[in-house]
Amino acid sequence: MAHFAHARVDLDAIADNARSLRGHAGGTPLMGVVKADGYGHGMLPAARALLAGGAGWLGTAFIDEGLRLREAGITAPVMSWIIPPGEPLGAAIENDIDLGVSDPLLLDAVLAEARRLGRTARVQLKIDTGLNRGGVGSAEWGDLVEAAARAEETGDLKVSGVWSHFACADEPGHPSIAAQLAVFHDALAAADKVGLTPEVRHIANSAALLTLPEARFDLVRGGIASYGLSPIPNYDVPGLRPAMTLRARVALTKRVPAGSGVSYGHRYVTDRETTLALVPLGYADGVPRAATNRGPVLLGGRPRVIAGTVCMDQFVIDVGDDEVTAGEYAVLFGDPGEHPGTPSAQDWARVLDTIPYEIVTRVGVRVPREYVGG
Ligand SMILES: Cc1ncc(COP(=O)(O)O)c(C=O)c1O
Repeated sequence: MAHFAHARVDLDAIADNARSLRGHAGGTPLMGVVKADGYGHGMLPAARALLAGGAGWLGTAFIDEGLRLREAGITAPVMSWIIPPGEPLGAAIENDIDLGVSDPLLLDAVLAEARRLGRTARVQLKIDTGLNRGGVGSAEWGDLVEAAARAEETGDLKVSGVWSHFACADEPGHPSIAAQLAVFHDALAAADKVGLTPEVRHIANSAALLTLPEARFDLVRGGIASYGLSPIPNYDVPGLRPAMTLRARVALTKRVPAGSGVSYGHRYVTDRETTLALVPLGYADGVPRAATNRGPVLLGGRPRVIAGTVCMDQFVIDVGDDEVTAGEYAVLFGDPGEHPGTPSAQDWARVLDTIPYEIVTRVGVRVPREYVGG
């Protein structure tokens, strides 16, 4: 069925981005991060494309996401890292999902579950090196690695990884980066001292894998860059192609006189007789209402800006005297390298004072993903 709006996802772009990221990271193994439905691109197709492009690992926020990868038959190493109380630890252990352990109480819970199942749980201990979000602080780290080492002796647990996450890697040169790396090195030394032999030590997200060779260790976690978007504003990454194009067919056009207020609140008023084009995508579909009078759109071969308030299901564009007809595609964002004049997710992020992550992950469930390549 032809849809009036869709997010086209180029799976070859995702696979090529994975290859390119491995090159940027000097061949360091890549974890493709596929949380939040593959940053809005569709978790399973994105995961398969990343693996095809050479990613050796997949990363998810939640265990449920990891389990869905397994249910789909994906056997590559998977790690899940946000684990509130009550999460399905047993299912994760039985499905060989590496558990990111950010809290000593979670280590106890994983251990109990591993014993109950008679299985060895694979855990990746997270040191909080300064993000002050998840992770075990330096003060508790010594006790944690000792407890983990004792559990390894009984075979209930394998510390498969030690890892952390940067606060400001998207601001190269920020003093917190070196400080976090120093804490990470200390944490690794403490783990080593109690006899832990993690298979992977990792701290780099997209920004760090691109800009910080000393942060690569054994594995780099590529999220946003896997989808072809730069993690750093105004920092072009050679070899990356945005994988998602969001577009919709114009539903109708109409001529209106000068002085016509457009959409709720009449926040846009025509300054001459003109043609309005109605695009059937709204804030329910991930076009932020804050894009009112700001969101860039390519329509009729020309870059334009949304006219008036973005509604739940639609917005309007003033096309002047240009020939634009119902059924024509309006492109909200995509790959400017493919079609000049196409806005990028970064362009949307700039006008909305946010980051491209938010633009792609918020594309709503009503917008079908249409896959090409792969
Ligand atoms: C722990 C962790 N690692 C890696 C990533 C990937 O980050 P990025 O998309 O900036 O590469 C994320 C995403 O937020 C994350 O939470």
